[in-house]
Amino acid sequence: MKPFFTSKLLAWNSKNNKRAMPWKGEKDPYKIWLSEIILQQTRVEQGWDYYLKFIKAFPTVKHLATAPETQVFKLWEGLGYYSRCKNLIATAKIIHQQYKDVFPTVYNEILALKGIGSYTAAAITSFAFNLPYAVVDGNVLRVMARMFGIRQPIDSSKGKALLTSLANELLDKQLPGIYNQAIMDFGAVVCKPKLPLCDDCVMQKECAAYIEGLVDEIPAKEKKIIKRSRWFYYIIINYKNSVYIRLRTGKDIWQNLHEFVLVEADNKLSGDDIAGHKAIKQYIDKYNGKITGTSKHYVQQLTHQTIHGQFIELTVSRLPRLGKDFIAVLPKDLALYAFPKFITTYLLEKNVNLSQH
Ligand code: ADE
Repeated sequence: MKPFFTSKLLAWNSKNNKRAMPWKGEKDPYKIWLSEIILQQTRVEQGWDYYLKFIKAFPTVKHLATAPETQVFKLWEGLGYYSRCKNLIATAKIIHQQYKDVFPTVYNEILALKGIGSYTAAAITSFAFNLPYAVVDGNVLRVMARMFGIRQPIDSSKGKALLTSLANELLDKQLPGIYNQAIMDFGAVVCKPKLPLCDDCVMQKECAAYIEGLVDEIPAKEKKIIKRSRWFYYIIINYKNSVYIRLRTGKDIWQNLHEFVLVEADNKLSGDDIAGHKAIKQYIDKYNGKITGTSKHYVQQLTHQTIHGQFIELTVSRLPRLGKDFIAVLPKDLALYAFPKFITTYLLEKNVNLSQH
C-alpha cells in the first residue's frame, strides 16, 4: 500500500493541479535538462520565456553544442548565475562529442556531467525515463518538513539527510516522474513558503505543522546570508564614436559577461570624488578627457552581494591605453554582447537598442 502522503499527493495532482508549464510532460531528456538548468535559482515565471527562446534557437543538444558561445551567453543574458550557462555549454559539448548527441540514460552518468547535481539528475531520469529517483529541492524539503513536523533546519546536514531519506521512501516507484512533478507543483502552489493555502489543503488533517500551529516556523533555517556591498563605477570611454568593453574573466561575479572600464571603490563616491579619483582622473589629464555624463545611482541585489554604482561617460580626444582585452565597439553593436543586468538596465534607460535584429 502506498503511504498516505503519496496517494493524497497523486490524487491532488489528478484532480486539482492546474499548473501548466511548457516543459511539463516533456520526455526529451535534452529539453528537460535545459528547463531544469534554467530553473535552478530562477523562478518559473522568469525562466518560462528563456526556455522557449532556448529550444527555438537550439532544438537539439547538437545545435547547442555547436553554436557560438557568445550567442548562447547572449540568450542567457539577464538570467543570472552565469556559471550555469558555462556548464550548460560544456555539458552540451560532451554529449555531442562523447555521446554522439544521444543524452545518457544512466543516473550516475548524468550526475557526472558538469552543472548536474543529484536534484537535476533525479529530475531528468524520472521525467524522461521514469526511473525511481526522488527530487529533493527547496520545495520538497519544505513540504516534507511541514508534513512531518521536522524542526531541524533544512540547510543543516542532519535535517537534509533526514528529509532526503523521507523523500525517497515516499516517492511513488511506479510513477516517479508524475510524483516528482506533483510534489514540486504542490510546494509551489499550495504549500508555498509564505501564506500557504492551508485552508484548502488536502493534507490538512495529517500535516504536523498545521496541527501544531507551526506552519510559519517550519521549515527552520540555520544560516543567515551575509551580504557584502561593492561600489562599481563604470567609465564609458568614448573615442571616435566607439566605446570600450571587455569580457569579464577571473574568479568573480559576472564571468563571461562584458563590461566597460571598471573602477571599483571601497565605498560610495560623491560627484567630486568621482572626478578626483586617480583611476578616473588619469583619463582626464592624459587623454584630454571630459566627463560628458554621469548617471544616477544603480543598485543590483545578488544573493551574496549588493552592487552599487554609477556610469560615467568620458569623451577623450586621444586613444587611451587600456588593457589588451578591451575592444572598441560602436554603440549600435552593443546588442551583440551579453552584459550583466546592472549594465543593461543603464543602457536601456539611455535608449540604447539591445535587441538583436
Ligand atoms: N523548478 C525546478 N524544476 C521544476 C519543474 N520541473 N517544475 C516546476 N518548477 C520547477
